[in-house]
Amino acid sequence: MRVQGVPMRPIRVTQDGSAVEIIDQTRLPHDFALVRLETLEEAALAIRAMLVRGAPLIGATAAYGVWLALRREASDVALAKACDVLAATRPTAINLRWALEDMKSVLTPLPEAARAAAAFERAGHIAEEDVAMNHAIGRHGLGMIEKLARPGRPVNILTHCNAGWLATVDWGTATSPIYQAHDAGIPVHVWVDETRPRNQGASLTAWEMVNHGVPHTVIADNAGGHLMQRGDVDMVIVGTDRTTANGDVCNKIGTYLKALAARDNSVPFYVALPSPTIDWSLPDGAAIPIEERDGREVTHIWGQSEEGSVLPVRITPQGSAVANPAFDVTPARLVTGLITERGIAEASTEGLLALFPERRLKAAGE
Ligand code: MRU
Repeated sequence: MRVQGVPMRPIRVTQDGSAVEIIDQTRLPHDFALVRLETLEEAALAIRAMLVRGAPLIGATAAYGVWLALRREASDVALAKACDVLAATRPTAINLRWALEDMKSVLTPLPEAARAAAAFERAGHIAEEDVAMNHAIGRHGLGMIEKLARPGRPVNILTHCNAGWLATVDWGTATSPIYQAHDAGIPVHVWVDETRPRNQGASLTAWEMVNHGVPHTVIADNAGGHLMQRGDVDMVIVGTDRTTANGDVCNKIGTYLKALAARDNSVPFYVALPSPTIDWSLPDGAAIPIEERDGREVTHIWGQSEEGSVLPVRITPQGSAVANPAFDVTPARLVTGLITERGIAEASTEGLLALFPERRLKAAGE
């Protein structure tokens, strides 16, 4: 995608090939800053402190983190340590574990001297695969949007959090159908949930939409149900951090409430996901580890003052207890369909296996 007309990705290798460059997402939308990652520790911190976030981007950053570590030392011990450090950064998005397992399986059989170069190549492969999968998701989702298009009014799509290009290597997952519809000349309008407590919708998705020129309106999280009752939402598309083998969808906190409101109002509720976001090892969403984040994200809110400085302000009284679960699980029964790179699956074990039949053979031990 482009930022002020310039092609941009939230992660890429620097031109001289000496480091990885990321967009510091904690500074958006007020400040656009690129940050160089040169070590394993810097990559791990970028994920933990959410300079990069979003399931697919976390996976790609971890893959490059392995490369950065192996440049320094490529022994079995160093490889295992790098994977452990990166795996401990964030617990919920399965793409992190998927990327690290992929890197390990490619690198372990190689002689030490060949590992750093192979890690660089494999991380690049993971990144490019993500772009291709997200583009394909967009093509499949575009068909759904086309079907909802009516003369004289835009297709109104509600999305939660940021499952946009900033959360991936490019295109985004939930946003890929939106961008492709917009680029194809189908009038779309996006309801952007602010997504408390970190406001990824208000700060990141809205920033993306402004940059790409997509008509959108930022709403308080609590407005979604009301808009659906009024007939102002034609479909919901969200991303996911982990979808289990039965189609249960774990995503940013608040997604479940949107799915309930969508069901009550007969609004189709779609989830866009590349296949590395599927956790085939879990039968349902109950066992997904839900990240509990710092209560300061709830007690404080970041914003820009009239004078232009970006700062946090406290919004709760001193002494109030706070809880900050970062994700929730939407049961498969509330999901209209899973938009994957291979097409749209019913949110069920059979639905997913129909698109990914190789998993049926794996489960049967063949
Ligand atoms: O805590 P975050 O900002 O990493 O959460 C991101 C989300 O919940 C996204 O919806 C999800 O990762 C899908 S990104 C394509």
